[in-house]
Amino acid sequence: MRKNIVAGNWKMNNDLSQTESLLKALQDQKTTSNAEVMVAPTFTNLSQAVSTLKDSNIEVVAQNMHFAENGAYTGEISASMLKSIGVKTVILGHSERREYFNETDELLAKKVDAALAKGMRVIFCFGEELADRKAGNEEAVVGSQIKNALFHLSAAAFRNIVLAYEPVWAIGTGETASPEQAQDMHAFIRQTLANKYGEDVADGVSILYGGSVKPANAEEIFSKPDVDGGLIGGASLKAEDFFAIVNAF
Ligand code: PGA
Repeated sequence: MRKNIVAGNWKMNNDLSQTESLLKALQDQKTTSNAEVMVAPTFTNLSQAVSTLKDSNIEVVAQNMHFAENGAYTGEISASMLKSIGVKTVILGHSERREYFNETDELLAKKVDAALAKGMRVIFCFGEELADRKAGNEEAVVGSQIKNALFHLSAAAFRNIVLAYEPVWAIGTGETASPEQAQDMHAFIRQTLANKYGEDVADGVSILYGGSVKPANAEEIFSKPDVDGGLIGGASLKAEDFFAIVNAF
C-alpha cells in the first residue's frame, strides 16, 4: 500500500539558529494526520536536525547528493556521508538542480543508483516547463524524464522510490496546477509505471505533487485519487502553514 507523504523542502533557507527555531515550532504542532512527514534542511544543518527530531515522527531528508562514494569532488556530499548522520532519504532531480546546476536525466540516473545502492529512499522530482504545457507536450516530457532516469531499475527498486511531480511553472510562482491537472498527470505517471512494471508496482508508488501547495489548496489537491501527498517549498518554512498542509490528510 502506498503511503501519504508531506515533505518540506527548505531549499537554501535558514541558518543554524533559524533551523533550530523552525524545528522547535514543528515539534510543537499538533497532528492527527496519517501522512509521513519529512523536512529537508540544508546540508550544514542536517546533523543538528536529525538529533533535534530523533524522538519525533518527522524524518530529516537531504536535498541532494553526489553519485560517487567519495573522492575528488570538491563541495559534494555522498550517500554514505548522509547515512552516517542518520539521513535515510534524499530528494533528487529537483527542477532547480536541473536548471541551475545542469543536472540531466543521465546524471540523475547515476545519483538514483548510488542512493538505492546504499539502501536510501529517493524522492525523485520531475515536471514540465510552461512552454511544454503550452505546446501540449507535458506528458511526453514527463514520460521521458521518468524513463530516462528510472526505467533501468528493477521492479523491486521502486519500494524505495517516491515520485514528485512538480510542474516548473508552478514552483514558487503562486501558480498551482489545478487539482484536475494534477490528477490527470498523476494518473498518466501511474499508467506509465504500470505499462513498464505492472499494476502492483504502480499502485505501490507514492506520487507527490509540488508547486505552490498552501493550506488553502492542499486538501483539494490531496483529495485526488492519484495524489499521495506533497513536496512543499515556501509554505514549509512556517510551522503552522506546513502542519496545516500535513493535516489536510
Ligand atoms: P513551492 O516549491 O511550494 O515554493 O512552489 C515547491 C518545490 O520546489 O518543491
